[in-house]
Amino acid sequence: MGNYNFACLMVSAKLDITGLIERGYDSCEALSKELQLSNKGMGFFLLILSHLGYICFDKQQVKNTELGKCYLSKSSHYYWGEVLLDPFQIYDINHLDKKILTSLQREYELECKGRSVTDMWQKNDMDNDSAAAFTHLMHSQGFASAVEAASCGIFENAQTLLDAGGGSGTVALAFCDTYPERNALLFDLPPVCDIAAMYINKFKKNQQIQIVKGDFFRDPWPEGFDGICFSNVLHDWQHATCQILIDRAFALLPKGGQVFIHDMLFDDTRLTPSLFCFHLFMNHGSQLYSAKALYRMLETAGFVNPQSYQALGYFSVLSARKP
Ligand SMILES: C[S@@+](CC[C@H](N)C(=O)[O-])C[C@H]1O[C@@H](n2cnc3c(N)ncnc32)[C@H](O)[C@@H]1O
Repeated sequence: MGNYNFACLMVSAKLDITGLIERGYDSCEALSKELQLSNKGMGFFLLILSHLGYICFDKQQVKNTELGKCYLSKSSHYYWGEVLLDPFQIYDINHLDKKILTSLQREYELECKGRSVTDMWQKNDMDNDSAAAFTHLMHSQGFASAVEAASCGIFENAQTLLDAGGGSGTVALAFCDTYPERNALLFDLPPVCDIAAMYINKFKKNQQIQIVKGDFFRDPWPEGFDGICFSNVLHDWQHATCQILIDRAFALLPKGGQVFIHDMLFDDTRLTPSLFCFHLFMNHGSQLYSAKALYRMLETAGFVNPQSYQALGYFSVLSARKP
């Protein structure tokens, strides 16, 4: 029955049940009438959403819970709709068994408009639609954890933070919100930067965040920062490529500067990191790295004092210092 959990959540996002409840359609009858759906079915569907924790019942009235408001309300900064609406059909259950089998044969790669996303990243050849879809999805997935990390003081010693492969500015936005007097640089491929500009406007961080368009494999990196963060970036690449990126970070940081890695850490004793690791293998031929593997990469580059902090849920932030 577990298959239904995510599917019901997707349908809830598609129908925008949370938004309808916000607008006063707060009973089974009102929702089914507005959506022109089965009243009997809606009753059972709402029961599932209540068991999943997104709504609750107060007599006959349906209410959004804090969880629902946080992740399913379009007005929330942590709205997960971009993941749940699944523009790449990554989680499509009809397709998932074939995807698992084909990727075990190493033939599958995540595609957008018939082209491999990894290829677009490698060749700096990303079209605007793919950039938009992927950047919205990543923002949904990572922003809550980035906010948690920043508000816990993990970036305390950085004055200017480079968000490398920053996407929407997941970390740069959280950093600048926590430290309104500090600045960040967001470095990503040009079409992604155009989407990032929308997020920076929305969060009113134009004065604090400078966008730098470029390819981190080929172009010069921006300078003038004392912290670099790779948020959900290293898990897209093979070990040797990660080492190249970390070495580059080391070369560009001043003495005492810090590197940060915001990601889920591989832990073979736990299901969710194992699933996410396989998910990355299927989509990019890559993997999640354990804290130990990342510490080794950091130390190989010359960084010292690697440390790990808990961010939100399964996410962590590693940090290390350039001596
Ligand atoms: C998985 S996303 C992570 C986005 C963001 N850091 C986050 O945590 O939401 C990986 C990011 O790396 C960027 N990227 C991939 N290849 C790149 C390249 N060659 N140069 C610069 N950025 C690149 C992608 O455009 C994308 O924004």
